[in-house]
Amino acid sequence: MITKEQLAQLKQAAKVAYQNAHAPYSKFHVGAAALTEEGNVVAGCNVENASYGLTVCAERNCIANAVVNGEKQFRTIVIYTEQEKLTPPCGACRQVIAEFFSMSSSVFAVNHLDNIKEWKLSELLPDAFTPDDL
Ligand code: THU
Repeated sequence: MITKEQLAQLKQAAKVAYQNAHAPYSKFHVGAAALTEEGNVVAGCNVENASYGLTVCAERNCIANAVVNGEKQFRTIVIYTEQEKLTPPCGACRQVIAEFFSMSSSVFAVNHLDNIKEWKLSELLPDAFTPDDL
């Protein structure tokens, strides 16, 4: 279970990351923050490139940031945008989340209007191909 306080802390970290997004092409800023099994908060933002296809989403940068710091197990991830319609993780990010999170983990989308949506990873990526399949 994620507490209200943990969720608020993750939202704040995702919002700070959102402000650092490099999104000059789409102008669509995204921030993400994850809670690791060890209780640390890690964040990431989307980083676009003039060669558009090299863009990396906030969720994947957030997870990579944790891996760089030696953490590979996570409890939850929060995606922050300032869109009225909450932003769900893209397909590629769902696959990367499934590499490191249990399928029963919650994924949250939040925005500046205090709207929130929660999914279980198993809902976002049913019948996922995971390390257990190898
Ligand atoms: N984006 C994310 O960072 N996460 C998602 O789950 C959806 C899309 C980014 C990629 C690109 O920089 C911009 O949003 C528009 O697609």
